[in-house]
Amino acid sequence: MSAKPDAAATAAELLALPSESGVLAWPDAPLAWLRARPATWLRRLRQRPVLEQGFRPLAAALERDGWAVEREAAGRFPLLLVSPPRQREAARAQFARALGLLAPGGRVLAAVPNAEGARSAEADLATLAGPVQTLSKHHCRVFWTAPLDPATLDQARIAAWQALDAPRPIEDGRFLSRPGVFAWDRIDAASALLADCLDPGLAGEAADLGCGWGYLGHALLSRCPGITALDGFEAEAAALELARHNLAPFASRVRLGFHWHDVRAGLPGRYDLILSNPPFHQGRAAEPALGQAFIAAAAEALRPGGRLLLVANAHLPYEAVLRARFSELRLRRAEAGFKVYEAQR
Ligand SMILES: C[S@@+](CC[C@H](N)C(=O)[O-])C[C@H]1O[C@@H](n2cnc3c(N)ncnc32)[C@H](O)[C@@H]1O
Repeated sequence: MSAKPDAAATAAELLALPSESGVLAWPDAPLAWLRARPATWLRRLRQRPVLEQGFRPLAAALERDGWAVEREAAGRFPLLLVSPPRQREAARAQFARALGLLAPGGRVLAAVPNAEGARSAEADLATLAGPVQTLSKHHCRVFWTAPLDPATLDQARIAAWQALDAPRPIEDGRFLSRPGVFAWDRIDAASALLADCLDPGLAGEAADLGCGWGYLGHALLSRCPGITALDGFEAEAAALELARHNLAPFASRVRLGFHWHDVRAGLPGRYDLILSNPPFHQGRAAEPALGQAFIAAAAEALRPGGRLLLVANAHLPYEAVLRARFSELRLRRAEAGFKVYEAQR
């Protein structure tokens, strides 16, 4: 991760702005935070909060700071903090979930960078929960509801919005996916290009780094009968659950593993083949270090003679790292702004 805080980290710090400005006191009972991340004000809370985070690197960062992290917060809270995702349906679903977790008289408080849809998010919360108050700082908006009585809210709308990011069939029913995960409603063009390079003779134990909802693993197991095991590594818990579902039909034939894991930390297993369409940003700006760390993790985890098949935007600076880490490097395809590399140990 870069040293400079990204916009989402700035927005997270600003969740404390209403309390610091004296316009909204922290409650005396524990609050809950959906999509929580490290923030300096957490230590100033009088009660331990309930922190929900499904993205492994952020969950791990909270754990390093001494916090317990929930995959799914449960209970009733006097204050629900929300750091909504960028995808609008997924953000609406988060607000609706937050309202479902409120104690009577509780409030929802959110902070969103302007460049990541602050105005729409604010309007969405107001549609669901009535007028909000707003503060602006550091190119972010911080907004919160009045004390709410769940009995007076439009429960039909809340239920409908909660379902907005529910898993659903895509690609003519071949896969299950949901808003909020990478390329949620389609096969990503770069991944399709990599899948096109999968020779039917590929064999042995394989891994997919950043497996998303499971497309590459599915393509590998459909095309290559010699593959005996597949481990999917993915940081986003929601995507990993989809991959588990989408690959289930192969469970009787191969050993499948699904790991909620930050690939930058290295891999626990050894493999004959690794596939990856690595992430290239965590905030808004491109972060080549992410993909480079994926390449390093693959090089460490491949058996001698093992191969990495990697696809990336053609302009990303991966070639030097591939050359440094592997003895053989071949450009398999260059098309539509993407490159597929095959590297061998
Ligand atoms: C470009 S997407 C590819 C997804 C999937 N393979 C596909 O073809 O649709 C990269 C994936 O890496 C995941 N990811 C991002 N950072 C990660 C990390 N540090 N460790 C593991 N996975 C990560 C993202 O959540 C995303 O699903």
